[in-house]
Amino acid sequence: MIYQIYPRSFADSDGNGVGDLGGIASHLDHLAGGPESLGIDAIWLSPIYPSPDFDFGYDVSDYLGVDPKYGTLADLEHLVEVAHARGLRIVLDLVLNHSSHEHAWFRASRASRDGPYADWYIWRDSPGRTPTGRRRPPNNWRSYFGGSAWTWVEARQQFYLHTFLPQQPDLNWRNPATRAALLDVVQTWLDRGVDGFRLDVFNTFFKDPALRSNPRRLGRRGRWTWQRHLHDRDQPELRDALHDLRTSVDSRPGRMTVGELFDDSMVDAAPYVEPRHLVFDWTFINIPWSATAFRSAIAARDAAFGPERWPANVLSNHDQPRHGSRFGDGVSRQVGDARAKVAATLLLTLRGTPFLYYGEELGLRNLSIRNAEAKDPPARRASWLFPWWNRDQARGPMPWHPGRGGGFTTAQPWLPLPADADTRNVERQAADPASVLSWYRRLLRLRRETPALQAGGQQLLDAGVPSVLAYLRYPGPAADGEPDALIALNFGTVAAPIAIPPADSGSWRVAASTGARPEGQTVTGTIQLSPSEALVLVRS
Ligand code: GLC
Repeated sequence: MIYQIYPRSFADSDGNGVGDLGGIASHLDHLAGGPESLGIDAIWLSPIYPSPDFDFGYDVSDYLGVDPKYGTLADLEHLVEVAHARGLRIVLDLVLNHSSHEHAWFRASRASRDGPYADWYIWRDSPGRTPTGRRRPPNNWRSYFGGSAWTWVEARQQFYLHTFLPQQPDLNWRNPATRAALLDVVQTWLDRGVDGFRLDVFNTFFKDPALRSNPRRLGRRGRWTWQRHLHDRDQPELRDALHDLRTSVDSRPGRMTVGELFDDSMVDAAPYVEPRHLVFDWTFINIPWSATAFRSAIAARDAAFGPERWPANVLSNHDQPRHGSRFGDGVSRQVGDARAKVAATLLLTLRGTPFLYYGEELGLRNLSIRNAEAKDPPARRASWLFPWWNRDQARGPMPWHPGRGGGFTTAQPWLPLPADADTRNVERQAADPASVLSWYRRLLRLRRETPALQAGGQQLLDAGVPSVLAYLRYPGPAADGEPDALIALNFGTVAAPIAIPPADSGSWRVAASTGARPEGQTVTGTIQLSPSEALVLVRS
């Protein structure tokens, strides 16, 4: 299980309202190695490199440094060391599609067409002027963050490409020198002892060499969707570059990567998956709270990935509305929390590596921040042509205990604490055996004790009731042999029957239930799941 920390928002150790590495190091007990820990395997840190923060770290101005607001390189090395001592691994976020416009490479590149960095970014002449006298950009590509993907630079009399903000120029992966420098970055961090990388928007590294315009199509959600993104990503050359990068990572035992698939489907994700190299797809991010919707999403991904590709399971991250809100808005806090436990069960028992976004273990909900007050830059540009969900809302400070600052900071936090932080925080939930946090701890322990929940195959069961999702987990890679675990999840708010298939040998026993079902009890025949019950049975 990999736990994502958004460093700005986890814990502030120096009292400036922004989280930092010292804060993370002092809260490792929450994560692993202590009696009360969640018991996770690795932390993925969203970017901690020097950055002018136009996109809060996803605009890197020095790939090998640590931003002073988070600490020093020594602090990071210390974190790696103390994490390793607890058996906890550290995964860094590598943003290699683009740098910051303040990176020395881009400063040099924009200064002249002739210098050594001239070709490190994607520069093109203007093909002429519009009837109103404006320079035409080289093609019709759009920025994902609104507006054209091209910005004009007087000094070079050329446009440069940026798939995201103008402050995030795209690097030229077709230039061997650039590519070698980026691989050096990977190598240096491996030398420094980190265990893996999350690769930001990896499928955009290469663009069509002729920069052809994308074909138009009918889209509904703003101008980005009005074209087929045929030429601005997913180019064949990517395979070769990924191979080099993965070989470098594989040269050390036990390292991994997870690539963030940008704006594509689970079917596009599958071919990129290899052993120890996972890919985020968005299977569970875009579906409603419905057992039938989850069932068909799981079936579709099982078909796309097959038994040999290992999925990454994600319900929330720093770009999306928190699933506590997606599934819990419009219902009571109690039902919302019951759903958060059902969602936790799904995340931690489905085939694949679970990724847990900080705060989900408390059932955190979104903050409510209007676009006009947003810190997230694209939110401030939002319009009907450019619909955008303000990502600040998923990036609120972690509430550690009741009271002012919530244990997150002694200063004014950079974003407000969640409105319910006094009752929804680590201290309170740790003391409550019925809390979302206690359920996560219980399930993570069960996952560690049950090999069939960590690896192996799965098979969906036909529960016979639309509100129930049920599946079997097998110790072996494919769904053959005898299943060792059965998971039944009631998405509905009324009781629902489920027929438990007989165990071939031994019997099914309750390993964990959010209902009033004693652990260890034998279960046979048809049982009634209580409303919003999550039930895990193991065979013994
Ligand atoms: C990824 C990141 C997102 C960032 C974007 C540009 O999608 O998750 O936060 O804004 O890439 O780097």
